[in-house]
Amino acid sequence: MPAVLTIATQPYSDQKPGTSGLRKRVPIFKQPHYLENFVQSIFDSIKPPQGSVLVLGGDGRYYNLNAIQVILKMAAANGFGRVLVGKGGILSTPAASCVIRKHGAYGGIILSASHNPGGMDGDFGIKYNASNGGPAPEKLTDSIYEMSLNISQYRILDAPDIDLEKTDEVELGEMKVSVIDPVADYADLMESLFDFDAIRDLIRSGFRIKFDAMHAVTGPYAREILINRLHAPEDSIMNAVPLPDFGKGHPDPNLTYAHELVEILYGEDAPNFGAASDGDGDRNMILGNRFFVTPSDSLAILTANATLVPGYRKGLSGVARSMPTSSAVDRVAKELGIPCFETPTGWKFFGNLMDAGKVTLCGEESFGTGSSHIREKDGLWAVLFWLNVIASKKQSVEEIVRQHWSNFGRNVYSRHDYEAIPIDAANSVMAHIRKEFEHLPGNTFGNYRVEHCDDFSYKDPVDESLSTGQGLRLLFTDGSRIVFRLSGTGTEGSTLRIYLEVFDPAIERHRLDAQEALGDLIKIAGEVSQIASLTGRNEPTVIT
Ligand code: G1P
Ligand code: ZN
Repeated sequence: MPAVLTIATQPYSDQKPGTSGLRKRVPIFKQPHYLENFVQSIFDSIKPPQGSVLVLGGDGRYYNLNAIQVILKMAAANGFGRVLVGKGGILSTPAASCVIRKHGAYGGIILSASHNPGGMDGDFGIKYNASNGGPAPEKLTDSIYEMSLNISQYRILDAPDIDLEKTDEVELGEMKVSVIDPVADYADLMESLFDFDAIRDLIRSGFRIKFDAMHAVTGPYAREILINRLHAPEDSIMNAVPLPDFGKGHPDPNLTYAHELVEILYGEDAPNFGAASDGDGDRNMILGNRFFVTPSDSLAILTANATLVPGYRKGLSGVARSMPTSSAVDRVAKELGIPCFETPTGWKFFGNLMDAGKVTLCGEESFGTGSSHIREKDGLWAVLFWLNVIASKKQSVEEIVRQHWSNFGRNVYSRHDYEAIPIDAANSVMAHIRKEFEHLPGNTFGNYRVEHCDDFSYKDPVDESLSTGQGLRLLFTDGSRIVFRLSGTGTEGSTLRIYLEVFDPAIERHRLDAQEALGDLIKIAGEVSQIASLTGRNEPTVIT
């Protein structure tokens, strides 16, 4: 029997998990004991009962396999009875959530830095998901951080590495390791929710799709679901082989980083439908032929059409969106007579609402959409939802969106990101806005009259916990808004996000470009924040 080693260590001070776990650059993770300290802090916080089941996998980025071998040996030395690990160390974030729930695991460890670039000098990340399949609640991440500040030793089995390249069941000390097919459980779940026959018919009729896996984790999932099960032609997927550095790309499905796909959908002989997902498979971008669907509109449209999909035939208990997400879905919820919750940014707030049965669908403006089938956002799920709606309505993506706008009005929306601003400059922008907020209510900027300014806070209706400081909101009397928020997931300097929204009840602005329609608000945002003079930046890094 291999020996359990107890290794002396010292704390690192920077192991504070953010909303999506701990994300750092690879060289930081490679420091002696760095990964081990954090993993031991997780185990010491969750205190798994002897014999518990753990799910383990990642998005295939550089350092994924090294980390998995270490975590397996540490799990064996910390009393787990079994680990379900994806073959090749692969599990997308939504698939991990699915496997945790389906197999009744105590929890899961997911290795990913989501949409952040990977590779030897890229980002790496680790997060813990609880038995509901969702991200660790704040109480738990706080406790993990506390543990990491006081750690003096960790436990690890002295054993050789495990072969992760074939599905098998092997022993690691007294613990069993099941190397599982990372795709099967997830693909089965998708097949149980969506009308695969109708989607197959749509594809057989000549409807052409293009899915960009961006050399990240969704490649094998897209191949199994779109090609093998839905019989789409081989060229329906691109960049479908996961690479440790994502082919040097930035695996974030938006108009800037998924430009290869965007060019195809806006080019000659474009397919009817395009979609992309991110590093770990939880985000989605939806495109039609020469047409972009904003994530906020996507959530509203899926909500309005949910009963066309077998898994949601009986209707939705409620919906939720993050505060900066446009209020397009609120209008649909109102018409359907179901509750609509506005939460802080980050997926974990949706989990409580879902566990309590209060919401079925939820989403964020940041290309994340999901439902209570798991407790993470889910990229391919959104793609299949759209395909099911298209198959059922027999309309193009653009027709579906335009019809939605004429039924509900349009929330014209955009997000401007200023990335990698020095932290001090970003903080001074936020401080300046806070000061401005004191005298803005009642003021007018052209046609816009300020109704209210605040720093968004949220009381969780389930556990009553309070989250404050979630974003500076400038609300106008006509329902238009500007929100200023600092990102919690960046790894370089600070990222300042400015969210802009105007509501257009009629059709007039529908033909206008969103940036044009938001022109006045963009000017007001610049004036109120003084971002140009305080940071030296005249243009956002990314506009979505
Ligand atoms: C970003 C998104 C947020 C999402 C998170 C994790 O966080 O804005 O909606 O939940 O990534 O994918 P941010 O960098 O804005 O804190
Ligand atoms: Zn992600």
